[in-house]
Amino acid sequence: MSDFEIKAPSLQELGKRHSSKWRRFPADVLPMHVAEMDFQIAEPIKQRIIKMVSESDLGYLGPVPEVAKAFAGFAKNRWNWAIDQTKLKLATDVGVAVVEFLRSNGATGGKVVITSPVYHGFWEWLGELSITPVDVPLKENFSLDIHGIEEQFAAGVKYLLLCNPQNPVGKAFTRQELTELAAIAKKHDAVIISDEIHAPLTYRNATFTPYLNCGPDAEATGVCITSASKSWNLAGLKAAFLLTQSKEMQQMVAKMPQATHWRSSIVGAFAMAEAYENGVDWLNSTVDTLDENRHHLKRELERLFPEVNYIIPEAGYLAWLDVTSWNLGEKTVETLIEKAKVALVPGNDHGPQYTEHVRFNFGTSPELITEGLTRISKALDS
Ligand SMILES: Cc1ncc(COP(=O)(O)O)c(C=O)c1O
Repeated sequence: MSDFEIKAPSLQELGKRHSSKWRRFPADVLPMHVAEMDFQIAEPIKQRIIKMVSESDLGYLGPVPEVAKAFAGFAKNRWNWAIDQTKLKLATDVGVAVVEFLRSNGATGGKVVITSPVYHGFWEWLGELSITPVDVPLKENFSLDIHGIEEQFAAGVKYLLLCNPQNPVGKAFTRQELTELAAIAKKHDAVIISDEIHAPLTYRNATFTPYLNCGPDAEATGVCITSASKSWNLAGLKAAFLLTQSKEMQQMVAKMPQATHWRSSIVGAFAMAEAYENGVDWLNSTVDTLDENRHHLKRELERLFPEVNYIIPEAGYLAWLDVTSWNLGEKTVETLIEKAKVALVPGNDHGPQYTEHVRFNFGTSPELITEGLTRISKALDS
């Protein structure tokens, strides 16, 4: 039973927002693309922000031990993961942290393994550093292809950029997979950059395992990069962190410029601490609301598009839909924006081969999920 009722405001109210979600497309397009939720933020976070603004407490970011302390409490309670709080470094956002980590460790111009279908930002971030992505796609059941990854490590690729839980399929990798991954990383002296930004949104019937909580091999080879921004809907506040749990990995993070810290936002950092410390009831209620939404989406797809393939995610509010049956080819998303007035993310942003997929954001009200699908259904029938 949820402590709070987490609901999305009306479309009219949402349309007044200033974020990219509500500004990228004309007002008559229903935006179900970018990974933002439509819910109101948690009250303790709101109060913290109001307090900082009203006290003109908006200077540069100094030390914020509150983030490590709050995350340590959260990680222990939620995942039974005891962290060393001294090995946490703040950064502007997850994207900046990943790019600066790779740049500072000489990865520019090299190769990095990724496991498609995977968050389109990964492809873009690697592109910023002229890094060639080496794709080892997930297996049919969305598990990691450990053998394929090991082949790449053996061939000399030194990094894997992991997305756990994985955007867009919502897969939380198992302890066994991650332990095997850690073993091959250790064997080949490779580094696992584990983006765990969606982890707090893991559903109650699934288990999220932090990479760094998979034993000494994982600690020796991994850096966790994450933020409260996805799960508490704070993307515009610009704060994230890198966490390591071994001397060797801490040394790699230490190569990053000092300015990585200063370029983060003071409001974002304290909002993040507030989220981990006092935002858990809100988070749990949000997960319950999303749980209803992921099943509502399933039912609505069965009603309107029984041939669309959708595997209910284990975490997060993104749905990966195989829409081959819509027969819209490579222009699926453009056609839907134009004809259905619904914006989704193209499948091939997540890997060039996924032209018959789209990513659908269900972090909204059941009514808007139905509205989006109904618009698409009418457009396909017309
Ligand atoms: C897996 C993943 N990592 C990172 C990001 C972006 O994080 P940030 O805004 O902190 O760079 C997203 C946004 O959707 C995401 O899905």
